[in-house]
Amino acid sequence: MKIGSLELKNNLLLAPIAGFSDAGMRALCRRYGAALTFTEMVSAKGLYYKNENTKDLLFTHAEESPKGVQLFGSQPEIVAYAVAMKELSGFDIIDINMGCPVPKIVRNGEGSALMTDPGLVYEIMKAAVSAAGGRPVSAKIRAGFTDRDKNAVEVAQALEQGGASAVTVHGRTRDMYYGGKVDLDIIKQVKLAIKIPVIGNGDVTDKQSYLRMTEQCGVDGVMVARGAIGRPQIFAELAGGEFEFDLKETILTHIALLNHLPERVVTNNMKKQVAFYVKGRKNAKIIKEKSFAAESMAELKDALELIDRIY
Ligand SMILES: Cc1cc2nc3c(=O)[nH]c(=O)nc-3n(C[C@H](O)[C@H](O)[C@H](O)COP(=O)(O)O)c2cc1C
Repeated sequence: MKIGSLELKNNLLLAPIAGFSDAGMRALCRRYGAALTFTEMVSAKGLYYKNENTKDLLFTHAEESPKGVQLFGSQPEIVAYAVAMKELSGFDIIDINMGCPVPKIVRNGEGSALMTDPGLVYEIMKAAVSAAGGRPVSAKIRAGFTDRDKNAVEVAQALEQGGASAVTVHGRTRDMYYGGKVDLDIIKQVKLAIKIPVIGNGDVTDKQSYLRMTEQCGVDGVMVARGAIGRPQIFAELAGGEFEFDLKETILTHIALLNHLPERVVTNNMKKQVAFYVKGRKNAKIIKEKSFAAESMAELKDALELIDRIY
């Protein structure tokens, strides 16, 4: 799959996932075959005002290549400013968030609120593209804001006119948050309406749901979010072929990949990741309890000793 000038080795992408798609998860997903990964959403305003926490989100490992960053914002000039910042110069593709349903974000007119204003969507994309220095800019949208107003096609056309190189469609409305059934038909409609690559997103958790997405919607790429939390090997499963996976080893690697962060932060961040890693495994309940109670990395690693190596 090709996005603008960017040639990807396959059509599998890891979604931006706030609180989860850290540099460790992204590197692991790359090892298992994801062709492109994105940072979690980063505030364009936060970058503009040089917020230190915002900058931490931009750390990447060398194996994450090509690499993507996702920005959120609603003011074309601020988004453009952020896109052109030197902190973003190492990113090969910039994605703009137009799907986040969180009330605080929506109240600011950001994320999925943009779905209600295709004119502004066009302006934001145009500004971002003009600041990107030839790098591709994409956007991630939803089916619409509400069920009565599924305007993904109109928004995608505005993005294409604004110079976007690709559009990812999460087939749910803002009102649905993350529940209910993904509307594959609206993704297909977007694919039929624009010429730039369309990436389908929503509820891809295995080969069957992957094939449903590609066959029913005719999309150019597939983006996985929740199906990859605690399961980076999903990309190898989707790509087919042989692969090795050891749960404890993978979690320890994930921890090691976060060594640019203070131990306290890594311990806290990894607790929720561990809960997903051990889901459905033997001893899951006790491992989760022990890891949530851990006050240091040593205690967290102790909890991991309970992982059964025979699956
Ligand atoms: C905890 C959480 C955090 C998320 N953070 C982001 C984000 O930062 N940017 C974004 O575009 N989407 C975000 N999403 C949405 C996902 O990228 C994806 O669109 C959605 O979960 C549907 O895909 P899935 O069914 O594969 O999970 C988030 C989703 C979850 C559950």
